[in-house]
Amino acid sequence: MDTALNNPPTSPLGMKSLRASRPAGPLSGSLRIPGDKSISHRALMFGALAVGETSIRGLLEGEDVLATAAAMRALGAEVMRESDGTWRVAGRGVGGLVEPANVLDMGNSGTSARLITGILATHPIFSVLTGDASLRARPMRRVIAPLSATGARFSARAGGLLPMAIEGTGEALPLHYRLPVASAQVKSAVLLAGLNARGETLVEEPAPTRDHTENLLRHFGADVSVEAAGAGRRIRLAGQPELRAADVVVPADPSSAAFPLVAALLVPGSVLRLAGVGLNPLRTGLLATLTEMGAKITVEHPRTEGGEPIGDLVVQQSALQGIDVPPDRAPTMIDEYPILAVAAASAAGITRMRGLAELRVKESDRLAATAAMLTANGAKVEIEGDDLLVHGTGRPPSGGGLVATAMDHRIAMSALVLGLASEAPVTVDDTGFIDTSFPGFAALMTEAGARFSAA
Ligand code: S3P
Repeated sequence: MDTALNNPPTSPLGMKSLRASRPAGPLSGSLRIPGDKSISHRALMFGALAVGETSIRGLLEGEDVLATAAAMRALGAEVMRESDGTWRVAGRGVGGLVEPANVLDMGNSGTSARLITGILATHPIFSVLTGDASLRARPMRRVIAPLSATGARFSARAGGLLPMAIEGTGEALPLHYRLPVASAQVKSAVLLAGLNARGETLVEEPAPTRDHTENLLRHFGADVSVEAAGAGRRIRLAGQPELRAADVVVPADPSSAAFPLVAALLVPGSVLRLAGVGLNPLRTGLLATLTEMGAKITVEHPRTEGGEPIGDLVVQQSALQGIDVPPDRAPTMIDEYPILAVAAASAAGITRMRGLAELRVKESDRLAATAAMLTANGAKVEIEGDDLLVHGTGRPPSGGGLVATAMDHRIAMSALVLGLASEAPVTVDDTGFIDTSFPGFAALMTEAGARFSAA
């Protein structure tokens, strides 16, 4: 393996830049994808709020999750990693977290910031949250607005941006809230605030979003009920449960598996096996979409582990057709549009991805960053309102471009996958952010046959 992957040099671009080139042969082998980011955050948080010692196997050791671990420690929980990779959390019970002695830095992680804000709202402590430049540009009003009704007080920068001070309440009122946007982070923030409120918290979501909070809270002993409500769901949580420590097994992250999956679809002759990938139906929109486009993906050994459906994905290089992706698919694949757009750029015909307004407030303006990534590499792309249109030619784009990561791990990985398929190499200015969600990405892909070099 190129040593540059482990130890990227200071390049003329000045950061951890990498160049991806079309490999001479196919991608092959069986890959272990790191643990699910959403479940990892929640396992640490719920462990910190439970009584007893929680053990977590397969925790994602990416920077985002490590920011959550550090925050839980700063709030008084004991969080330890054993030499075999198991994490243990000695919790403080619902309502038992203590005032942190310093500012809580959430790094690049929106999930840490939104969910922890929910927890802090209903603890009678003072705290200040901040993050990196990307996170400090992301909207927090979407959680401040509902959580203010608990009695907690928030002082944020203009526009509802971090840094933000929180004066939590020990006498919280339970919330009844209908989400204006389909966001699992906002839903989870409201439910987590409800843990330490008297009475029943009720959240209605306009469309079903990932339900890891509901599933894991139940696993820790909370009383959570879910019913259909129109096109969405109504979730009820009984306040002030005694959460009991639990053992959590974290499946491989389908949102991370998406990158080697699409790489295998595009690099001639490839066959990859991705073991133990989470297949929660609220996370599998990309698999459905790619299958509609003609992708040859099979699920082997479907099983349940840690309360989540998982399976081994086997994917082989496939000729893809452009399709129309409906807006109601978005919540089940919200993080996968950049890599879907890379697949669409090699497909035959137009792919229209509808209803992507939420992509504008991710780690970057992902709608703009995805369009820029593809345009810089010779693909024809249009943004029409909230839709992204990719004009596929049936062949990979020319490549040869320089992609600005914009502090966004998924743009960096998408661009590297694009470079494995395109005629000329693709250069990514800063791959450092990949460590937020997929540490070891470049090394793992190289083992499977990918070609990356220092740029
Ligand atoms: C997440 C929810 C989604 C997703 C994010 C993880 C979660 O965000 O984009 O990567 O773990 O709840 P939104 O709630 O903003 O859609």
